[in-house]
Amino acid sequence: MVRKKEFYGIAFIALICFLLIAFCQKDTPAIRHRSVSFQAIELDESIPEEEHISMEEILNIQRNRLKRDLYGYKLPSNHSLIDLTLEAGGEPIRTVILTTWRSGSTFLGDIINSLPGNYYHYEPLLDYGIMQIRGPPHSDSAISVLKSLLNCDYTDLYRYLKFGMSHVYLFTHNKRLWNQCEAFPDYCWEPDFLNEFCKLFPFQSMKTVRLRLKLAEELLEDKSLNVKIILLVRDPRGTLQSRRHRDWCPGVPDCDQPTYLCSDMVSDYSAAIRLKQLYPSRFRALRYEDLSLKPYQITEDIFEFMGLSLHPEVKDFLDTHTTSNVGGVSSTFRDSKNTPFHWKSDLNYTEIQLIEEACHEAMNLWGYVRTESSNLKDFIPIKSYEIQ
Ligand SMILES: *[C@@H]1O[C@H](CO)[C@@H](O)[C@H](O)[C@H]1NC(C)=O
Ligand SMILES: *[C@@H]1O[C@H](CO)[C@@H](O)[C@H](O)[C@H]1NC(C)=O
Repeated sequence: MVRKKEFYGIAFIALICFLLIAFCQKDTPAIRHRSVSFQAIELDESIPEEEHISMEEILNIQRNRLKRDLYGYKLPSNHSLIDLTLEAGGEPIRTVILTTWRSGSTFLGDIINSLPGNYYHYEPLLDYGIMQIRGPPHSDSAISVLKSLLNCDYTDLYRYLKFGMSHVYLFTHNKRLWNQCEAFPDYCWEPDFLNEFCKLFPFQSMKTVRLRLKLAEELLEDKSLNVKIILLVRDPRGTLQSRRHRDWCPGVPDCDQPTYLCSDMVSDYSAAIRLKQLYPSRFRALRYEDLSLKPYQITEDIFEFMGLSLHPEVKDFLDTHTTSNVGGVSSTFRDSKNTPFHWKSDLNYTEIQLIEEACHEAMNLWGYVRTESSNLKDFIPIKSYEIQ
């Protein structure tokens, strides 16, 4: 009985299909003809405009977008958007995250970039390769690149742009720029365009994993930049475990040697003491573990530090990025409360002890607890710390 019903059903559908095909074939020439002429009219009017869209038009679209996206968002001390944009002679709110590889800066960088109106200078020192910049010979050029970008001046950044053209992730993280690059690729790597486009944005954020903190004092000293710096620190056991999974890291001492990582952490700590005294309102340090365990509270602290209130879209970002484990290794869609502590199960005890041996002082300063036995199930690796 059922079989019979199915058969009739299929036969009926087949009949309808047949009729439809016959009908379409009969009408096709007319329809095609009409659509061609219709498209021709459209083509004449719209495509040339798209192709020849001027830089000024793109900038205008972005100006309007920013007004729309920031509508109703309270800017600090009654500033209007114009007071915060370089193109109008204002001063943007600039924030630099300073850290090292695999210390949670993708997560923190994306939190800040979820703020509408933010322009994200992602890893401006990528073209230096896998190295730490601790002083000459690279410190001057590195600082000068950072300053140029924070001033939206791409004019002399030939090497940076050339590198970016073959490593587009330099720009893709800057989603508000990348949207325009995808729509109008001709302008994307043009300094003339980038200079003007960047200057529209009231919030300018940057993250770098290659520059050590003592060198960043030069950025804080520059009054015209009025930049804020967040030093992001992570448990060296977590950092080194995470780095092992990157193919660009093993074999490079700056990256895979605990002694290098941890002497940088000690020197960053000394620099942190100094900067906290000199620039209490423009410098702060943050541990990745604390951010992961209390993402809402710490994010609110960070925005307060930036002089801003928490935008609903930042809250949305946290809602969607701090609960479940989705995505690949560089994904920030993950269980933020467990991610920092994967090393406890991923490193064997011999490896943990080797790191703790090399990192004794750094761990002490930054409040990371040494293990006492190989049973790590209930081991809590962090305690409080102070910069003083
Ligand atoms: C902001 O503007 C309002 C009204 O325009 C005023 O009452 C308030 O005092 C201002 N606040 C600051 C911090 O200037
Ligand atoms: C720990 O890991 C290292 C490699 O990273 C290996 O050489 C060593 O044998 C391991 N030790 C134990 C006890 O499993």
